[in-house]
Amino acid sequence: MEVERVEALSYGGLRELPAQFIRPAHERPENSKAVEGVTVPVVSLSQPHDVVVEEIFKACSEWGFFLLTDHGIEPSLIGRVKEVGEEFFKLPQKEKESYANDPSTGSFEGYGTKMTRNLDEKVEWVDYYFHFMSPPSRVNLDIWPKNPPSYRGVTEEYNVELLKITNKLLELLSEGLGLERKVLKSCLGGDEIELEMKINMYPPCPQPQLALGVEPHTDMSALTLLVPNDVPGLQVWKDGNWVAVDYLPNALFVHVGDQIEVLSNGKYKSVLHRSLVNKERMRMSWAVFVVPPHEAVIGTLPELVDEKNPAKYSTKTYAEYRHRKFNKIPQ
Ligand code: SIN
Ligand code: FE2
Repeated sequence: MEVERVEALSYGGLRELPAQFIRPAHERPENSKAVEGVTVPVVSLSQPHDVVVEEIFKACSEWGFFLLTDHGIEPSLIGRVKEVGEEFFKLPQKEKESYANDPSTGSFEGYGTKMTRNLDEKVEWVDYYFHFMSPPSRVNLDIWPKNPPSYRGVTEEYNVELLKITNKLLELLSEGLGLERKVLKSCLGGDEIELEMKINMYPPCPQPQLALGVEPHTDMSALTLLVPNDVPGLQVWKDGNWVAVDYLPNALFVHVGDQIEVLSNGKYKSVLHRSLVNKERMRMSWAVFVVPPHEAVIGTLPELVDEKNPAKYSTKTYAEYRHRKFNKIPQ
């Protein structure tokens, strides 16, 4: 089926936003502005170990979000990840369409655009590219962009670095809960833990105050590690307000997702967030979702439960959690 791409609408000289992109009044950026003078936590990994554990604990329990600096990934690698993604999106539309996904088969891998499911459902001002990155058994290289030719090598290099950071962060988060360092990783499948790449492309939008790039949501992942281009747009929800996240070159934007909230019995918060779009400039972001394998059973860690602290979340497989989240069935 032919899908109308947001990019085609944007560059087709559209002046007014089509109805399916116009958010209900209370959701519009013009009616829900970010609070002034509040900034998100920034954590440098080059500090003494105890300080890092404490700062990450604080950021994840109060915000569910922080910017990670001094993480060891070369800025030049982050630059190349962005370049190959940008180059893919600059390809002629026909070439991009040869990677079009088909969500009706249950798979989102490839080039995609979310469509309305019914008349009321509003859509987001974004096209994307989605594919698995880790472990090797989940990767289907046929679905990765073949153009630019360096896409594969750069993405594989990035995958190696992000696996290291994932391990580090899960150890630090385990320690913050007073647990053995390996606990969270092993609950998330150990070496079967999965990394998924989603490149978001938000074309210029004729009426950005009426639209959203991505509507308010929490990620169902364990963690999401994101780098954006230099066009701001991400906002996180904190104490009843939206807080705009400024661009910080080379920082990793770390989101706590639902699975870590469940495992930690709510000590760590899955952050509610949304993204706005821009009138003149294209915004892009590279989100890597750290997720357990589908068959992993996720529930509150037994170490955190006692008579005074009962489990607040039900236990289920990640596949079941995902099914419920997609279909808006209560967890
Ligand atoms: C998302 O949360 O899905 C995207 C966030 C972003 O583009 O910054
Ligand atoms: Fe998200």
